[in-house]
Amino acid sequence: MSINWFPGHMAKARREVEENLKKVDVVIEILDARIPHSSHNPMLDEITQHKPRVVVLNKVDMADRKETDAWMARFKSEGKYPVALDGRNNHIIKKIEPLAVRATAEIFERMEKKGIGRRAIRAMIIGIPNVGKSTVINNIAKKKIAKTGNTPGVTKQQQWIKAGEQMELLDTPGILWPKFEDEITGRKLSLTGAIKDAVVPLDEVAIYGIEFLLAHDPERFNQFYNINVSPSDEIVDVFDAIGKSRGLKAGGNEINYEAVTNRIIYDIRNGKIGGYTFDKADA
Ligand code: G4P
Repeated sequence: MSINWFPGHMAKARREVEENLKKVDVVIEILDARIPHSSHNPMLDEITQHKPRVVVLNKVDMADRKETDAWMARFKSEGKYPVALDGRNNHIIKKIEPLAVRATAEIFERMEKKGIGRRAIRAMIIGIPNVGKSTVINNIAKKKIAKTGNTPGVTKQQQWIKAGEQMELLDTPGILWPKFEDEITGRKLSLTGAIKDAVVPLDEVAIYGIEFLLAHDPERFNQFYNINVSPSDEIVDVFDAIGKSRGLKAGGNEINYEAVTNRIIYDIRNGKIGGYTFDKADA
């Protein structure tokens, strides 16, 4: 589910996240491992201030493993606690909890010195729509938490859920909006399904995807579609080749370009062609 973000929505979402931040010791930010930069809203850095951060590179099954490693190293060097995972897998809490413990060690040491008794680590999950926040929360809770949708301002009674041995998690995620820094960011957000409606023209999204995949691994791309194109070919020829190979025709022998566009986006969005990371860690 996605919504159109307006200044009112954004202000409300920010307020909600800020309110909830006061209740927690550590923030668990969920990013899409394919676009760790584009799925991050930099406002989070501003509003979390010095709160420790666990960064979940989610959907790692659809990302490029080497790039994920590079992103892990980058986040570590920034003092964050990263982990790469597939939010649908069981036992993800075993990966997340130790990081939250390490991230909050200093806070609890200070509390202990002041004679404050040990309590559970309090955490909340934050991220833009469709990165997998509900998947992760439901998986940790081992049940389906009532979904409010990606709409800020839809209030429900918040509850703490037990997360592992030492942690409690707010059952409602903090929802931030995707930040459109530029056209390319918009295309990456669309290509990975962070934004699903046609906020960005779909033909531009498909062309961006083709160019990226062809530049990175033309052989894999050609093999997947059973075609023979090269990065220097005209983009219309690539559409024609895929249309022919997949039998995506309009009436007669004409290629149905809309169908080709949708097919390419579907294949990339769902990781059918393989694992790709569209944001480079060393950029
Ligand atoms: P959100 O709360 O952040 O908005 O995201 P949500 O959990 O609803 O997840 C969005 C989609 O991503 C879901 O697909 C979910 O199954 C999928 N997903 C979450 N984590 C992972 C992961 O690690 N790997 C893969 N491959 N997929 C993941 P969906 O239920 O099919 O919904 P839709 O995308 O068809 O709407």
